[in-house]
Amino acid sequence: MNAPNPIVNAPRVVTVALNPALDQTIEVAGLQPGAVNRALRMQIDVGGKAVNVASCLSDFGVPVAVAGQLGRDNAVLFEELFQRKNIANHCCYLDGLTRINTKLADTVSGETTDLNMPGTEFSPEAAADLLNQILERLERLAEHVEWVVLSGSLPPGMPVNAYAAITERMQAAGASVLLDTSGAPLKAALASGPRMIKPNRHELAELLGRPLDSLALLVAAGRELLHSSPAPAWVVVSLGSEGALFLTREQALHAHPLKVAVISTVGAGDAMVAGLVAARLEDLSLAETAQLATAFSATKLTRLGPHLPCPAEVRALAEQVVVTPVDA
Ligand SMILES: Nc1ncnc2c1ncn2[C@@H]1O[C@H](COP(=O)(O)OP(=O)(O)OP(=O)(O)O)[C@@H](O)[C@H]1O
Ligand SMILES: [Mg+2]
Repeated sequence: MNAPNPIVNAPRVVTVALNPALDQTIEVAGLQPGAVNRALRMQIDVGGKAVNVASCLSDFGVPVAVAGQLGRDNAVLFEELFQRKNIANHCCYLDGLTRINTKLADTVSGETTDLNMPGTEFSPEAAADLLNQILERLERLAEHVEWVVLSGSLPPGMPVNAYAAITERMQAAGASVLLDTSGAPLKAALASGPRMIKPNRHELAELLGRPLDSLALLVAAGRELLHSSPAPAWVVVSLGSEGALFLTREQALHAHPLKVAVISTVGAGDAMVAGLVAARLEDLSLAETAQLATAFSATKLTRLGPHLPCPAEVRALAEQVVVTPVDA
C-alpha cells in the first residue's frame, strides 16, 4: 500500500473496485467471426469501472483513492497507473490475476465486441473477509472523503448486498455515495439510500421491470425513485448517443450529447460518473452538473483508455453542452 498522502492531498473521493479488470483492446479491420483475423494493434489499459472513474477524476485534478481488490500477479499495471496519476492505493492484494476483459475494435464498422470475464469466484468466507477489510479501509478514509463511488459488477460469490453494506456504513460516517451498478446489487443498495445513482436506460428499465421507451417515461421512472423511501437526491439516466437526463425532485434536464469523433464508447458512463462527482465537489447547479458530466463523457469518447485531456479543455467543452428542461 502507498504511504498515506499529506493532508493537503487527502483524497476527497474514494472509488471502490470490488471487481477490477484489465482491458485488452485489439484492433481489427473488418472482424470476421470464425475466421483467422489479422490484428492491427493491441493495447492493454488498466480498467474496471471504479479504476476508470478514479483515473478520470485524477486527470481533472481531484485527489482520489481506490479501495478494493487486486490480483497480485498483474497488480503492477494498476500500481503504475496509480503512481503516474497520484491515485492513493488502498486495495487488498489477493492471490492470482486480476481478470482481463478483451475488446475487439473493428476499425471498419466502428463496432466493438466485448468479451468480459466474470472475475475471481469468492467463497462465502473469502467474500466476507474481503468486504470487512475494505470497510475498515474505507472507514479510515471517511474522515476526509466526501464522495464514495460504487460502480460496476460484483465478483462471483460476493453477496448481493455488498454495495448496500458499504453505502450504509459510509453515509453513516458522513460521506455521500454515488452508485452505478445494475441488477440485484442496484436493487439491494437502493434500500440503503445512496445519495446519487447513474443507471443507463436499460439498467433503469430492468430495475423498474418495465420498458422505458420515451423521455417522458424515463423522467417519470426517475421521479418515482426520487420520491421513494429512502430516496436518492439525484438520479442521472445516461442514454448513450442521446445524451443523459439529470433529475432532482425539483428539476428535470436533458443534456444533449456533444458531436465528437467517437474512437471508443467504452467507459463513457464511467467518465460521466467522474464528472458528476467533480460537479458535486464544486457544488455546481444541476444544469452545470449536466454540462460538466457530459463534457467528461465526450472527451472520453475521443480516446482509448480511462483518460481525459487537461481540465481547461474539459471545462471549455462543458460550456458547449446544450441542456434543455424536460416535461414528463
Ligand atoms: N455515441 C455517442 N455519441 C455521443 N455521446 C455519447 C455516445 N455514447 C455515449 N455518449 C455520452 O456518454 C454518456 C454515457 O454513456 P452511456 O449512456 O453509454 O453510459 P453507460 O451505458 O453507463 O456506459 P458504460 O457503463 O459502458 O461506460 C452519455 O450520456 C452521452 O453523453
Ligand atoms: Mg454504465
